[in-house]
Amino acid sequence: MQEFARRRQRVIETMRAAGGGVAVVCTGAEVIRNRDSEYPYRSDSYFRYLTPFPEPQAGVVLVADADRSEAILFCRPKNEERETWDGFRYGPAAAAERFGFDRGASIESLDEEMAGLLANRPALWCALATTEALDASVRRWLAAVRAQARAGVTSPTRLFDLNHVLDEMRLVKDAQEIAAMRRAARISSAAHLRAMRAARPGRREYELEAELLYEFRRNGADAPAYGSIVASGRNACVLHYRANDALMNDGELLLIDAGCEIDGYASDITRTFPVGGRFGAAQRALYDIVLEAQRAAIETIRPGARFVDAHDAAVRVLAQGMIDCRLIEGPLDSAIESGAYRRFYMHRTGHWLGLDVHDCGDYREPARGAAGDPLREDSGAAGDATRSRILRPGMVTTVEPGIYVRAADDVPIAFHDIGIRIEDDALVTDEGCEILSIDTPKRAEDIEAAMNG
Ligand code: GLY
Ligand code: MN
Ligand code: MN
Repeated sequence: MQEFARRRQRVIETMRAAGGGVAVVCTGAEVIRNRDSEYPYRSDSYFRYLTPFPEPQAGVVLVADADRSEAILFCRPKNEERETWDGFRYGPAAAAERFGFDRGASIESLDEEMAGLLANRPALWCALATTEALDASVRRWLAAVRAQARAGVTSPTRLFDLNHVLDEMRLVKDAQEIAAMRRAARISSAAHLRAMRAARPGRREYELEAELLYEFRRNGADAPAYGSIVASGRNACVLHYRANDALMNDGELLLIDAGCEIDGYASDITRTFPVGGRFGAAQRALYDIVLEAQRAAIETIRPGARFVDAHDAAVRVLAQGMIDCRLIEGPLDSAIESGAYRRFYMHRTGHWLGLDVHDCGDYREPARGAAGDPLREDSGAAGDATRSRILRPGMVTTVEPGIYVRAADDVPIAFHDIGIRIEDDALVTDEGCEILSIDTPKRAEDIEAAMNG
């Protein structure tokens, strides 16, 4: 709980540095899937960053004045009848006590309380223009304050994008976040190993999806962090393949992109391996290119390097490999400049990872000293906003090069329908990086050894 209180305090300090005000971060209501069944509930990631309070329909409100501050948790009131059907609710008083807030309040009183809290305060901090519901709330809150103008009440004159503040904070993970991400990656690594051992010709993709899910849940993970991709043969060339229902055949590769979520934090791992337990020659040739591209990319990841360096390093290896396999024409520099490699490698080599699988955070260095932007002091040099982000310890990025060869007349037939991606999760450390997903076999020989017992 202390870590969450510390994060809220950091937000308060940031607000103070810009004159103070009131911040609000809400998490939504449950969403109906059909009739009386809801989708599994997951808190809003910004809310989850500020408190692990697990219930829907809640809000964190932070008040930052020059000389005092207050953290308020709004949530549903106790309701004996609903608790009989749906389970325990803390209620405001117990929730505030348990989750370390100065006080709790009913979510039903949020409108009324906000009108009072915003009176005579200079600014409102919230997620700007993200949902119509929040925009409408902001209008209601400000209208209610303005209605008191003749009584001498002043209303906020500034609106700040709180998500921008939280994005920068979330980009650099603290020790608690890193611990959760390590656990998530470790469980996901075990799940991939389990799937490798369960794969064989004649099984369906969803049978391996079930093995992944089993390993996630039996280890206490909340859920998959995103829809698991279990793609055999040519399905691996569909980047966001969803069906997961095909029969797996001997001689095909199987691409699994799957990771679990734990305490709200995602892992995101991809392995590609032969359904029958042995790589064919053409598969192995492409596999080793992707593996080498990943190695080259990982080698760039350290404090002071640019986010884009990993991609550039991977592209050089992939493009050279494509030239060597006669998928594209050389020389290397012109293949890179023309973008010819993109026919077989059409995505980026990584993305931030955290509470969201494609996590928040700018991929460019922030401009320094932007007005009212107190987060900016420790960022890059002035005028740096067009440049790729400089890595700092605590950032987490995926490293996921691939090659996807769809069948076509101008492509050597041995490579038709081969799709390969290798994806790991890299934490930037003081010296370089730590691969959180290190436990899953990755070299072709190690994969074959794992599959063949
Ligand atoms: N699993 C989504 C991604 O790799 O970005
Ligand atoms: Mn990814
Ligand atoms: Mn992935």
